[in-house]
This record gives sequence, structure tokens and C-alpha cells, in this order.
Amino acid sequence: MDRIRISGGNQLRGIIPISGAKNAALPLMIASLLTSDTLTLENVPHLADVEGLVRILGNHGVDIAVNGRRERQEDGYSRTIHFTCRTIADTTAPYELVSKMRASFWVIGPLLAREGRARVSLPGGCAIGTRPVDLFLEGLAALGAIIEIDGGYVNATAPKGGLVGGRYTFPKVSVGATHVLMMAASLANGTTVIENAAREPEVVDLANCLIAMGAKISGAGSKTITIEGVTSLSGARHRVLPDRIETGTYAIAVAMTGGDVTLEGTDGSLLETALDTLRRTGAEITQTETGLRVVRNGNGIQPVDVVTEPFPGFPTDLQAQFMALMTRSSGVSHITETIFENRFMHVQELARLGARISLSGQMARVEGVPRLKGAPVMATDLRASVSLVIAGLAAEGETVVNRVYHLDRGFERLEEKLTRCGAIVERVSE
Ligand code: EPZ
Repeated sequence: MDRIRISGGNQLRGIIPISGAKNAALPLMIASLLTSDTLTLENVPHLADVEGLVRILGNHGVDIAVNGRRERQEDGYSRTIHFTCRTIADTTAPYELVSKMRASFWVIGPLLAREGRARVSLPGGCAIGTRPVDLFLEGLAALGAIIEIDGGYVNATAPKGGLVGGRYTFPKVSVGATHVLMMAASLANGTTVIENAAREPEVVDLANCLIAMGAKISGAGSKTITIEGVTSLSGARHRVLPDRIETGTYAIAVAMTGGDVTLEGTDGSLLETALDTLRRTGAEITQTETGLRVVRNGNGIQPVDVVTEPFPGFPTDLQAQFMALMTRSSGVSHITETIFENRFMHVQELARLGARISLSGQMARVEGVPRLKGAPVMATDLRASVSLVIAGLAAEGETVVNRVYHLDRGFERLEEKLTRCGAIVERVSE
């Protein structure tokens, strides 16, 4: 199993190209199930999660053609992929596939809308919390679906004549359930209104792609999304938006090590709350013509409190990375996680590097220390793993991050991007 070895202490200086967003690419790929035409996605990141979903979609009958050409000549790796699902080969998404990646549960929306039925395994729990699917099921039921749970599977059936437009108010904001309802309602008969919808940029990206495919959607990015169903969708060509979590992660890394880095091809408006928070810690961040410039020279790291919230609040997917930064602040900060109930697994590992963190329910109290010291560490999810990389970059001596496959799920060529900016990071294969 691969590890990442980091010799800490170097500042980051240079250019980091930002990839297409994993969390936009996954629902966009799933949208290819809604049409018999070809959906072409540009800027798809080369990640383990994308490869996993390619296999899952193949099982449902999606033919996938990769255009191997690198999109950006030198620095970029994201690819253009063509997805064609002439006919749905199988409306069952088996446990072996769904249990590996929660987002694959989302195929339930397009399968039900296009074929009138879907049998999809319940995804089960995962490291960051229980993550139920009740909101998906309630939302689909509001479109007329009949839902039964049997042997660990959700059996969903549309009424004769297909799904019907309905109204659903989310009791709690859910990104995935908003994606699924938008996709299902696009092919329903009549108008659907989704209230308290997720407003994440990835929801807007999916809506824009569905609109390009012929869907009639308005209000994506606000709390109310209205979808007028159409009888069929066509193919389209769509470019995946830049990854705001990758952007925020490298911005935090620069704030941590000090230095001057331009995050190329990204857009600060995708993560304003996170960038404002980082500015308060002492980093200077400016939007340039090519991307975002992040600088920290000389200043110490100021403690800042954060509370994770649905967009446009501070993202849960940057909580672990921000905590790594706060371990080196000049005071005490409080970090409250409100989205997932068990997203503090990085705390014990950061402590191995010398961090002083105490937990009380959903809040972590982080007391900044003057230095961190390298150690072997291990993480149990994607964002927690990268928080350990960030801490390792600023720690004295050597840090070895085990279980690198978590990083490969969501960060395209992480060690290469960091090395180009002066970090000493290498992958060790065994
Ligand atoms: C998406 O997950 C992201 N994943 C997550 O990123 C991200 O952390 C999360 O949104 C929140 O921003 C993808 O986009 C692939 P939710 P999702 O449904 O859609 C509860 C990463 O590291 N809930 O918005 O699964 C749920 O348990 C990943 O890239 C229910 O109670 O998240 C959670 O507490 C991790 N019932 C809250 O809602 C449901 O039916 C928000 O979850 C659905 C969700």
C-alpha cells in the first residue's frame, strides 16, 4: 500500500493547477444515464472515485470513451470523457459497487426517471458518520415513486406513465438528494418545486449541464429550484467547474507553510467564506487573471473560529485542513462541525504531530503550538488525510502518511503539484 513521505519546513512557491471538481464530476457523470445521446464532459479529474464510477456506470450500460489528450498542455491532467447510454442495461446497482462509493447511490434518480424502476443497494455507514438516505426516499416519493426496502436494497418504482411533478421541502440540506431530485424531476410529468435545496456550486453545475441537455430548471443556487419536466433529454458538452475544495486545501497549505502560490484556473467566488476566514488568519488572497494568488510572508497565523455549514457557509470538506492550520496559530480557536457527526478522526493523528486539541461534542478546541514534529500518521477519510499532509509540510522532520488511497480518491497528483512548489513530498510504493 502506498505511503506519502514528507520532509517538512519548506515554504510553497510557484503555480498549482486546480483540477475539475470531483464532487461536480460524479453527479454529472451520473446524468449521462438520463439520455440515449452522448454527454461529453471536459475537465474530468483523474481520480480513483471517477474510475470507480466509470465501472458502476458501465454496469448500467454506459459506454465510455476517453479522449487521452491532455487538456492543458503542461500542467493539467483532467480529461474529456464521452458517456453514451443508448439503453439501460441493468436497473440494479449491487451492494458490491454501491458500498465502495456513496455517490453511486445517486443512480437511483436517473434509473427511476428513465426506466420507471430502480433497485439500488443502501450505501451503509461510512467513516464520517451514519449518512442515511431518508431524504432521497422522501423526495422521490413526492414525485410519485413507490419505495420499498428489501434485503438491504431500495426498490423504487414509478407510477404508470412515469414520475409526476411534486413539491418537496428538505427538512435538512442535502447535496446528494438535491442532485437526485433535480435529475429525476427533469424527466417527470409536470412541475416540481424543491424547497430548502442545497445551494452548492456543484448543484448549479449539474443544473447547467441538465439545462444544456434540454431540461427546464430555474433557481439552482437558491433555496428554491423549479423543474418543469420534459419527455426526453439530449446529449450535451459541458465543462466541469474547478474544484473549490482542492483550491481551499492548497490555499490552506500556503497559509500553513508560508510562501506565494498562484492556484491556476480556479475562481474565488466558489469559496468566499473559506477565503475570508483564511484572510483573517493572516494570508493575503487576491483573484488574478489566471486564478487565485495566496501569500503569507512573515506574519504569524492568527486563531480564527469556524463553524461548518451548507454552502455558502464554511465547507465541512475543508474542516480538517483548517484544523491543521489552527494547530500552528498564535492562540486558541474553536472549530464546530455541524454537517457530519463523526468528522474529527484527524484529531488523534494531528496530536501525534504535537497538536493540542480537545474535543467536546461537535466542537474542537485547538490551542496553537510553536512547532509540530513529524511522525507516522494514518487517516480514515479523504479530507482527513490531506489535513495530515498539510501538517506534515509545516512539521519538523519526516512525516509519513499511510493509506494514501484515500488521497487518490480526491486529489489529482497531489505530490507532484506540491513538489513543483518546493515541498519535499514523495510517494513510497510497497
Ligand atoms: C456531499 O455528500 C459531498 N460528496 C461530500 O463530500 C460533502 O461533505 C457533503 O456533500 C456536504 O457538503 C459528494 O458530493 C460526492 P449531504 P452528500 O447529503 O451529498 C444528512 C468529500 O470529502 N443526510 O449533503 O452525501 C447526512 O448524513 C465528501 O468529498 C440525511 O440525514 O452529503 C449529513 O449529515 C465527503 N439523510 C447531511 O445530511 C439523507 O437522506 C448532509 O449530507 C441525506 C443526507
